[in-house]
Amino acid sequence: MNQLNGKVAVITGAGSGIGAAIAQLFAQEGAAVALLDLNEQQCKEAAAACGEHGVPTSWHAVDVTDSDGVKAAMADVAAEHGGIDILVNSAGILDETPFLEMDPETFDRTLAVDLKGVYLGCRWAAPEMVKRGGGRIINIASQLGIKGGVGLAHYVAAKAGVIGLTKALALELAPHRILVNAIAPGPIETPLVEGLSPDWKAAKQAELPIGRFGQAHEVAPTALLLASSPGGDLYTGQTLGPNSGDVMP
Ligand SMILES: NC(=O)c1ccc[n+]([C@@H]2O[C@H](COP(=O)([O-])OP(=O)(O)OC[C@H]3O[C@@H](n4cnc5c(N)ncnc54)[C@H](O)[C@@H]3O)[C@@H](O)[C@H]2O)c1
Repeated sequence: MNQLNGKVAVITGAGSGIGAAIAQLFAQEGAAVALLDLNEQQCKEAAAACGEHGVPTSWHAVDVTDSDGVKAAMADVAAEHGGIDILVNSAGILDETPFLEMDPETFDRTLAVDLKGVYLGCRWAAPEMVKRGGGRIINIASQLGIKGGVGLAHYVAAKAGVIGLTKALALELAPHRILVNAIAPGPIETPLVEGLSPDWKAAKQAELPIGRFGQAHEVAPTALLLASSPGGDLYTGQTLGPNSGDVMP
């Protein structure tokens, strides 16, 4: 079942968690994968694991808040792999900060990585997709961007922004045959949520109809659906929710 044979996929935040799981699954499905991450060592290791599927891989140590860096990485990927067909924006950060203690720097940093980073990925990958006559963009948002969350105003604002950006780009890039969707996972056991307080986690788990947090490999198939054809052909501007039932739009 090599659903992505011949495709070139760029995944940001691919050194860990959901991004790493998506890169693995895409490689297993035959895509050449380019992994971008701030953490060079993890990015290298994740790329090596993808290479075990016998597909071309590359890794790029990039900060998604750095426009020139992201632009250069996309150009390098296109030169090395022949173009870009699929972009997954998964790089993200999260910290729990009560709103009444949240300083502007904390707010700005989260918006820079979690929202502007998505814009920059799209901004510099989309022209490569236009050259190919089409493509797929998959932005990792969060169910918190739909329902809100205590102590997470900065993160919620960024993720709601990602969902809005996804809809705007779905409209604007449709004439270029680029389909743009978001995935809004529920709580997933990755290093990202390790720092959240035990109280927050216990309360969250109690709210979930499925009764447990998800695993990164349980989110990756949603990205594969959106990246593949014919499965993803009719989706654009949508936000899919592998979220343990946390949100029912
Ligand atoms: N884990 C969850 O519960 C959950 C739920 C909903 C949404 N998400 C979203 O999923 C995405 C992936 O999160 P995860 O859970 O896999 O976390 P993770 O911490 O395991 O992975 C995030 C990756 O992003 C990279 N990163 C962080 N800042 C970066 C930057 N400035 N430039 C480049 N790379 C950077 C990190 O090095 C890391 O490898 C994030 O956007 C997150 O907000 C996660």
